Amino acid sequence: MIAPVSFADEPAILPGWRFSVAPMMDWTDRHCRAFHRALSGRARLYTEMVTTGAVIHGDRERLLGFSGVEHPVAVQLGGSNPADLAQAARIAAEFGYDEVNLNVGCPSDRVQEGRFGACLMREPALVGECVTAMKAAVCVPVTVKCRIGVDDQDPEAALDALADAVVTAGVDGLIVHARKAWLKGLSPKENRDVPPLDYGRAARLKAARPTLPLAVNGGLRSLGDVQARLAEVDGVMVGRAAYMEPAMLLDVDPLLYGMAAPAPDPFAAVEAFEPYVAGVLQSGERLHAVTRHMLGLFNGRPGSRAFRRHLSTQGMRADADLDTLRAAVALVSRDRPDARIRDAQAAA
Ligand SMILES: Cc1cc2nc3c(=O)[nH]c(=O)nc-3n(C[C@H](O)[C@H](O)[C@H](O)COP(=O)(O)O)c2cc1C
Repeated sequence: MIAPVSFADEPAILPGWRFSVAPMMDWTDRHCRAFHRALSGRARLYTEMVTTGAVIHGDRERLLGFSGVEHPVAVQLGGSNPADLAQAARIAAEFGYDEVNLNVGCPSDRVQEGRFGACLMREPALVGECVTAMKAAVCVPVTVKCRIGVDDQDPEAALDALADAVVTAGVDGLIVHARKAWLKGLSPKENRDVPPLDYGRAARLKAARPTLPLAVNGGLRSLGDVQARLAEVDGVMVGRAAYMEPAMLLDVDPLLYGMAAPAPDPFAAVEAFEPYVAGVLQSGERLHAVTRHMLGLFNGRPGSRAFRRHLSTQGMRADADLDTLRAAVALVSRDRPDARIRDAQAAA
């Protein structure tokens, strides 16, 4: 057992809150989450955002179905009608989700037209009503993911108002993407990079409200970044870095929980994940549906590019199977990632 750096206890109702993988549309689907679970037994995983309309009227199994291996797993809802959110939360809880999260951070035009996502930062009272309705509908924790403000809002006042409203409504935790969203003139992608990060704002909120479970999100690239933030808040949420460099998840359990990782290295993780992949193939889905989330697993190792290329070409074929995955893995060197650099330095 590896000694963990000591951090504040996790809220008992939110195991895995110390490190979560962010909700990401088109990325964190069920296969991605199952893959991430093969790399960390502890991290809390989030679905892509799903709108209340889709949950209430759409194909629920397709939208909400997930594998038992994913726990602890949270569903993220998009909406702003309290009754609809209550109904969607109830449906999600019946599916077995461990947490229902409300999106108050997405800046896309489509979401703004629906009057939800980040524009709700301007309507804290309505967010409070939404949380009240969701809390009344389900027994699992209800959380909110928000920004520190939008457009010309003052982040001190805007985040305080939002926090006041949701705490009064009984929210179980708040995830703060520590930058503003600019609702006009920036694309959702630009809104993840352009408005400057302000981790201090999240830390001040935590200091002012010590009993509110608070996680911070945005721009965290390594477990070192994560550990620095955990000195100030209860949890971190990592999005793009976890998706692009999934091997970082292998360090989460040892470094943040003092537990062994589910697998000693990425090669063993893929092997242990094979039965899941076999199940997906058996259900008639293509290999690519799973392996598209695995492309970054061997980044930094000799052969990683060949691995990606093999999966992006052969892995797309209708008849691609486990042997295709194994052949891609066989292209990767089992040397330590830094071996090539060390060798080059020794040769110089
Ligand atoms: C492809 C993509 C899709 C995203 N979809 C969602 C979403 O559905 N809901 C949400 O709250 N945030 C979404 N986000 C934002 C992330 O959850 C996160 O807040 C953002 O990427 C900043 O964290 P990071 O710097 O660790 O990536 C998305 C981000 C990306 C890259």
